[in-house]
Amino acid sequence: MNFNKINDRKNTHSIKWDGHTKMNIPDDCLPMWVADMDFQTVPEVIEALNNLAHSGIYGYAFESDEYFQSVIGWMKRRHQWTILKEWISTSPGVVSAIHACILAFTQLGDAVMIQKPVYHPFAHSINSLERKLINNALVYKDDQYIIDFVDFEKQIIDNSIKLFILCSPHNPVGRVWTTDELTMMADICIKHNVLIVSDEIHMDFVFKPYRHQILVDLNENFKDHVITLTAPSKTFNLAGLKLSNTIILNQKLKKKYDKVYDDLSVHAGHSFGLIATQAAYEHGDAYVDEMVDYLHENLMFMDGFFKEHCPKIKIIQPQGLYLVWVDFRELGMKDRELKSFLLTKAKLWLNDGVIFGREGSGFQRINIATPRATIEKALNQLLSALKEENLC
Ligand SMILES: Cc1ncc(COP(=O)(O)O)c(C=O)c1O
Repeated sequence: MNFNKINDRKNTHSIKWDGHTKMNIPDDCLPMWVADMDFQTVPEVIEALNNLAHSGIYGYAFESDEYFQSVIGWMKRRHQWTILKEWISTSPGVVSAIHACILAFTQLGDAVMIQKPVYHPFAHSINSLERKLINNALVYKDDQYIIDFVDFEKQIIDNSIKLFILCSPHNPVGRVWTTDELTMMADICIKHNVLIVSDEIHMDFVFKPYRHQILVDLNENFKDHVITLTAPSKTFNLAGLKLSNTIILNQKLKKKYDKVYDDLSVHAGHSFGLIATQAAYEHGDAYVDEMVDYLHENLMFMDGFFKEHCPKIKIIQPQGLYLVWVDFRELGMKDRELKSFLLTKAKLWLNDGVIFGREGSGFQRINIATPRATIEKALNQLLSALKEENLC
C-alpha cells in the first residue's frame, strides 16, 4: 500500500472534507478532526464492492456463514480470541450499539458510568436516553492517563451504577489498558453487579510494544458481565458502510440486546457493509500491519516537529489509535481563544478537547491517519501562525 498517496476527498460527501459549511467551519481549514482516514482501503475490499456495484442489484442481504467466519478468523488471528457465530450480532455502528445496550440493560434514570475525557457520543447516548451520567475522570499523572480506582468503586457504590462504558483502547487519550487495569475494573464491576459495555473499536491500532487485550477474554468469569463492541470501520476506513459487530457470550443478554433492534425493525444486513467487512477481515492483515507502522512514523514525525519547533505544544504519547491527544496549555490560551486561533490563523480543523469533557480543556485531538505530506502541511500552517502571534 502507498499510504503517502494523496487522495482528493473533496466533493465526495465526506463529512471530514466537505462538512465545513454544515459544521460552521471556514472553508479553507485543513480537516484533521473526525476519526476517518484519508487512506484507500484494502484492494480486495474495493474489488468486492466493485463487483457488487457492477451487478446492479442491491436487494436485501443477510449475514452469510462466510461473513461470520471472516469475523471469527480475524479475532482469532489478530487477537487470539476464539468466538462463536452465536455470539455475534451485527448493528449499524458502534454508537448505535451503545445506544442499544443502554436501552436493553438500564431503565430511565439509572446511572451509567464513563471515564472522561472520552469519546463524546458516550455522554450523548446516556443523556439523550435520560440516564444519569456518572464520571470516573481519568487522572493525568507523569505525562500519562491513569484510572483512579478508589473513585471508580466509590462512584459505583454511591450512585448504584448499572452500566459502565469502557473505551479500550481509550479515545482520545491513547491508552491501551494493561491486563492489571482491565482486571481491576472488571473485578470491581462484577463485585457490584455492574454490566460492562467494552467499546474496543480501536483494537487494531496498537503500537509496539503495547498489546490490546480483549477484556472479556481475560478471565472465564467475565463472560456474563461484558459486552464487546467491535467494528471494521476504523480499521479499514469503512465508516460510511455502517456495520459493526457486537459480541455477547451470555445468550440471555444477547436476546435482550437483539430485541432492541428487532423492536425498531432495524436489521443491519447492509449489503455493501457485509461484503466489505468480509473482504477486509479475510484479506486485510498485511494492510493493517503496514498502516500501523505508517501511523507510528507519522506520530514520530509530529512529535519531533513539536519538540524542535514549538516545545510548548506536547503530545501525550499514545499507545495506540490514529488520534493524538495534544496538550496546548502552555500557550496560555482559553479554550475559545485556542479554537479561534486554530481555525482562523492556523487554518486547521481539529477536535476541541472540551468536547470530550471539561477534563479536555487546553487539549486538542489531531487525526494523523493521513499522508505524511498532509501532516507536514498542517504543522507548517500551525508553526507560521504561532510565529505570527509570537507564541514560539
Ligand atoms: C471509541 C469510539 N467508538 C465508536 C466510534 C464510532 O463508531 P460507529 O461509527 O461505528 O458508530 C468511534 C469513532 O470515532 C470511536 O472512537
